[in-house]
Amino acid sequence: MKSGGHVLFVDDDPEIRRFYEDAVADEGYEISTAPTAEDAARLVREKPPDTIILDLEMPGMGGVEFCRLLKAGKETLSIPVVVVSGHGEREARLAALGAGADEFITKPVTAGELRLRIRNMLKLKAYTDRLAKEQEILDGMVRDRTKELQQTVQQLEKARLETIFRLSRAAEYKDEGTGAHIRRISFYCEILGRHLGFEEAELRVLTHSAPLHDLGKIGIPDAILLKPGKLTEDEFEIMKTHTTLGAEILAGSDDPYLKAGSVIALNHHERWDGKGYPNGISGEDIPLHGRIVAVADVFDALTSKRPYKDPMPFEQAVSVICEGSGSQFDARITGAFSGGLGEFERIYRTVRNDAQ
Ligand SMILES: [Fe+2]
Repeated sequence: MKSGGHVLFVDDDPEIRRFYEDAVADEGYEISTAPTAEDAARLVREKPPDTIILDLEMPGMGGVEFCRLLKAGKETLSIPVVVVSGHGEREARLAALGAGADEFITKPVTAGELRLRIRNMLKLKAYTDRLAKEQEILDGMVRDRTKELQQTVQQLEKARLETIFRLSRAAEYKDEGTGAHIRRISFYCEILGRHLGFEEAELRVLTHSAPLHDLGKIGIPDAILLKPGKLTEDEFEIMKTHTTLGAEILAGSDDPYLKAGSVIALNHHERWDGKGYPNGISGEDIPLHGRIVAVADVFDALTSKRPYKDPMPFEQAVSVICEGSGSQFDARITGAFSGGLGEFERIYRTVRNDAQ
């Protein structure tokens, strides 16, 4: 007795079917027989065999057509098919091979040859099945690993953005402990970016790097940073250096957020008319991100409480920004500001400091 396997014999001649069954009776196979290709198709659907011995000339669907059907089906593609043809059926044999038949036997078939062919086909099928199973396991592993990798990348991105946000908070912590200012700046910049037609990727860089604008305050002495009154001229000169300090801290990074943060730190106090600091550059010489954060930052400063001033009412702050269009601010950005006023007001009213 050989180890199992399911063999299907398809032939319209009952004598031949009986001969086949007798020939493999001692091989230990599960055997099915079908007198037509139509019957065979039904048997294959019910329980796919491990190999098929197929007559070419049958009433109804011929062997070539049945073979083509089997090889076109995803479930039946890997079942080895041996076609049995007469001496005068060279064309049909070639057609069957063309339709995907794996092997052929020429009539008259001997029991010994039949057994050998079936054994070979079952070996082929077992090998194909094992390969398919291993491939399935490999595919599953690749899917799992890809998912894990995606999760890791997402976690890393989250940690990276959180680190940037916490770095921004560290700089703000002494004069504004709640982090509300940098959150509002981020939201305001997002509104401006959207109204300027930024794409999602550009928006992401802008909104996550804008909170870094005042990072350089980390290097400003407390006596100046926390002074309740107006700064003297000398103190203000020192205060101005928070722009270059912040840019230096962030300089030289390949990270798009930190790169943009460096540009924003340096340029967020420049003015469209060239009367800003630290470099007094004007117009489009000021990087776009700097011009955007300038509007968001001034608007937030006007509407926020400081030790030396009360917050300006929303409408009044809006007027100040609009009046600065073309002088302090880029008119394109103030245009985006006007377009997004409703959204600005919502952020202004909902993202508040605990102290206010
Ligand atoms: Fe600043």
